[in-house]
Amino acid sequence: MEFKNLKVETTNRIAVVTINRPEALNALNEQTLDELQSFFSDANDNDGVQVVIVTGSGKKAFVAGADIVAMQQLTALEARKFSRLGHQLMRSIETCAKPVIAAVNGFALGGGCELALSCDIRIASENARFSQPEVNLGVIPGFGGTQRLSRLIGKGRALELLFTGDMIDAAEAYQMALVNRVVPQEKLLETAVEMATKIVNKGPYAVRQVKEAVRTGLEMDLDKANQYETEMFGLCFASLDQKEGMLAFLEKRPAVFVGQ
Ligand code: CAA
Repeated sequence: MEFKNLKVETTNRIAVVTINRPEALNALNEQTLDELQSFFSDANDNDGVQVVIVTGSGKKAFVAGADIVAMQQLTALEARKFSRLGHQLMRSIETCAKPVIAAVNGFALGGGCELALSCDIRIASENARFSQPEVNLGVIPGFGGTQRLSRLIGKGRALELLFTGDMIDAAEAYQMALVNRVVPQEKLLETAVEMATKIVNKGPYAVRQVKEAVRTGLEMDLDKANQYETEMFGLCFASLDQKEGMLAFLEKRPAVFVGQ
């Protein structure tokens, strides 16, 4: 696939997608949202991709938000459409059958923070900065920030960030469990690839089911969620990966998974 605003490199079934609009600190305009949507639609079904890493180009910004130049003149209906486009993308990432790791290499503001929030795991470089600064612009987050931030870090802390637009550094983000890890910038991609490599070597079918069980289960009450896990556990035993994984353990050799 050819993209204008994305760079994609796939090695050992790990796709690294880099948002590449350095002149606007990688801000998300409609074309970039469309390109990311196409990328994730393909990654979802492509057996050659087992883990996705999302990052921004350069050393300064992951994504500095939705594109303010593009938004400035929108009518209410156009703004609603733009928000819907962003929401569709964030949901595609959240429901993508493959784990998605955000390697946050700098500013993750507004739509950039929302993009990171829709990923499964966030690794930040020491210079990363997070905020939902929409109230500075007279608007609210439009790509899920009011919902995913409060679900991830709790209502009180989320509302503080959403009301004040305060920017927090990587260490504060770590304390709030907004990010999983903080590493020096020069180690960021390496750390994300290391984590992705661990995941790639597990049973792909089981990894998919883990993501599905956690995501769907969190939207249910505990009894239903446990029942859902039970059904999915049962389903794993219809997979070739379960047969291979358990046989390999008993034969004391590494498993060779096929992802089915
Ligand atoms: N949209 C469009 N362009 C942006 C941008 C954005 N979100 N963020 C930065 N840029 C552009 C700047 O306009 C500037 O362009 P020019 O060189 O043509 O002037 C270029 O990127 C470099 O930025 P700065 O000169 O501002 O760099 P800085 O180091 O002084 O500041 C910054 C960096 C703190 C990130 C600052 O650029 C900033 O505050 N950006 C806006 C952040 C923001 O408000 N994001 C939220 C957008 S709203 C949103 O995302 C809504 C939603 O939920 C859907």
